[in-house]
Amino acid sequence: MDATRQRFLMCRPTYFAVDYAINPWMDPTSPVDTDLAVRQWEQLRQVYRDLGHTVEEITPVPGLPDMVFAANGGTVIDGKAMAVQFRDPQRADEAPAYRAWFEAAGFEMYEPKHVNEGEGDILLAGDLLLAGTGFRTAHASHAQLQEVFGYPVITMQLVDPRFYHLDTALTVLDERTVAYLPEAFSPGSQAVLRRLFPDAVHATMADAEVFGLNSVSDGRHVVLPAQATGLAAKLRDRGYETIGVDLSELRKAGGGPKCCTLRLRQGKADK
Ligand code: ARG
Repeated sequence: MDATRQRFLMCRPTYFAVDYAINPWMDPTSPVDTDLAVRQWEQLRQVYRDLGHTVEEITPVPGLPDMVFAANGGTVIDGKAMAVQFRDPQRADEAPAYRAWFEAAGFEMYEPKHVNEGEGDILLAGDLLLAGTGFRTAHASHAQLQEVFGYPVITMQLVDPRFYHLDTALTVLDERTVAYLPEAFSPGSQAVLRRLFPDAVHATMADAEVFGLNSVSDGRHVVLPAQATGLAAKLRDRGYETIGVDLSELRKAGGGPKCCTLRLRQGKADK
């Protein structure tokens, strides 16, 4: 299995907190250790560097506790960057911060016309754009994504509020393979997934509940939460090398490794 070198955008969780609840994992009354969140995030960044990936960083903004979840900052494919529009007002100001970063980095910018939470809901799998809807990203945004990026968009209906973003319910392992939690999807979307990915890895609820599917693969190495032991074993059976990381503090906001990681794709060859 070939690993591809990747370029990621991350945001240090300097101002991380759980001050509001916009998903079922968030409990503003239970304590959060921001220093521990930073240390866990630094370990994730080190794992990427050790794998030979490039990590770019965006400066965190005070008062935006969820800005650490860089996957929600945009969708970047073939040098084009689609900015985001959040469902919830608490996260609205993250969108211009990420847009400014993409502009400064020289990406061709596109503005979302509808709610669109970036790579939280939009995942490139080979030549297909899998696009989640049901909780955050609006279905209407899927048509715009297809128009901007020129990849066929496959709509995925999410049905379980705990798996509110596509990247909590499905992970792309390589150009042909995904892993997912079937029951996080509507019956029709499950049928589509079976048709498109007959060899997919099926995750269990136990693995999904520790954000096992919120993982980052370079085609060979899969970085996933250390707690997702069952999924890791299945992936190793398929020939992937798994690397477990502990992001227990960020999980209190409903996020895992993939949420902290936005893929920056420069060109056609860079899937
Ligand atoms: N608290 C954040 C929210 O609910 C978590 C975002 C996680 N990001 C992700 N890509 N799934 O919006």
